[in-house]
Amino acid sequence: MKEKAVVIDAPGGPEQLKLVDVDVGAPGPGEIRIRHEACGLNYIDVYHRNGSYPLPLPARLGMEGAGVVEAVGEGVNHLKPGDRAAYASQPPGAYATARVMPAKCVLKLPDEISFETGAAMMLKGLTVQYLLRKTLPQGGLQAGDFVLFHAAAGGVGLIACQWARALGLQLIGTAGSAEKCQLVLENGATHAINYRGEDFAARVRDITGGRGVKVVYDSVGADTWEGSLNSLAPFGLLASFGAASGPVPPFSVGTLAAKGSVYVTRPTLFTHIATHEATQAMGDDLFEMVASGQVGIRIDKRYALADVAEAHRDLEARRLVGSAVLLP
Ligand SMILES: NC(=O)c1ccc[n+]([C@@H]2O[C@H](COP(=O)([O-])OP(=O)(O)OC[C@H]3O[C@@H](n4cnc5c(N)ncnc54)[C@H](OP(=O)(O)O)[C@@H]3O)[C@@H](O)[C@H]2O)c1
Repeated sequence: MKEKAVVIDAPGGPEQLKLVDVDVGAPGPGEIRIRHEACGLNYIDVYHRNGSYPLPLPARLGMEGAGVVEAVGEGVNHLKPGDRAAYASQPPGAYATARVMPAKCVLKLPDEISFETGAAMMLKGLTVQYLLRKTLPQGGLQAGDFVLFHAAAGGVGLIACQWARALGLQLIGTAGSAEKCQLVLENGATHAINYRGEDFAARVRDITGGRGVKVVYDSVGADTWEGSLNSLAPFGLLASFGAASGPVPPFSVGTLAAKGSVYVTRPTLFTHIATHEATQAMGDDLFEMVASGQVGIRIDKRYALADVAEAHRDLEARRLVGSAVLLP
């Protein structure tokens, strides 16, 4: 039976996204076949589509999904046909009705978490997990500490606001409109800054009594880089984990001394979920945060899989808040 999948033949704009018929075979060793109930939409899909993160062509897209396991290959012990499952995983290919993929990063989805929520939270929630639990300044973070989180009304951002509240952190969130700033505050940030109208680094100094924050989580890149460095306390950490506004410009390491012996890291989720054991441990933490109600997953918009180009246009135009899903 033919399935549907989104492919690009060349990098470019949303018009490159084509829904085509594909054959989905049987899973090989270490693989599963999954039928998607919902597919996640992530900013990394834009980097894949426009060539910022080049893929061998033609390429399938999508890194996050949820559905029902249809078949498992040799050596897969943690899943069986009929299991509800969700994942954030390489390689791209989640924008599809069904697919064959490595089983390593696919986790059983707890019954109390819906497929849509699963598809909306795995990549974004596991990212917040490794950021707030493992991407830490010297000495870690303690309740009451200030952190700065950019694009705080986005998919990753709204999860971070709530998770930080659960940890007792004072999260200063930036966002691109007054409405988004309101949402950031409603989701647990202690402060919100509209970085399209305000000098966020100056506001951060005001809020922190001149000291700066222990850590900045920056997924905006080019537009915020300088201000992020200027927002750090001495020995602070800048975690640059995305580049929605364009790549971070080249910089001299001497800058890190001038800003107060600060640290910079450029982490990616895929280093953290390199093994099944690590993925399961992070997933268990995320499932617990969601099932306990400490983190809610806001699905702002649902698109038919066939309308994937519209979803990409909305994401790039900063029209979305929280998560969005594609429905096959
Ligand atoms: N390294 C990792 O492991 C990892 C994992 C997951 C996600 N990420 C990164 O985290 C970020 C958030 O991902 P997401 O999927 O949840 O997306 P998102 O936050 O829902 O969307 C991106 C947001 O970035 C902000 N932004 C600022 N300047 C922008 C510009 N010039 N163009 C477009 N958007 C701009 C917008 O919010 P405002 O309007 O409020 O500015 C926009 O809503 C992305 O940069 C993504 O690549 C990294």
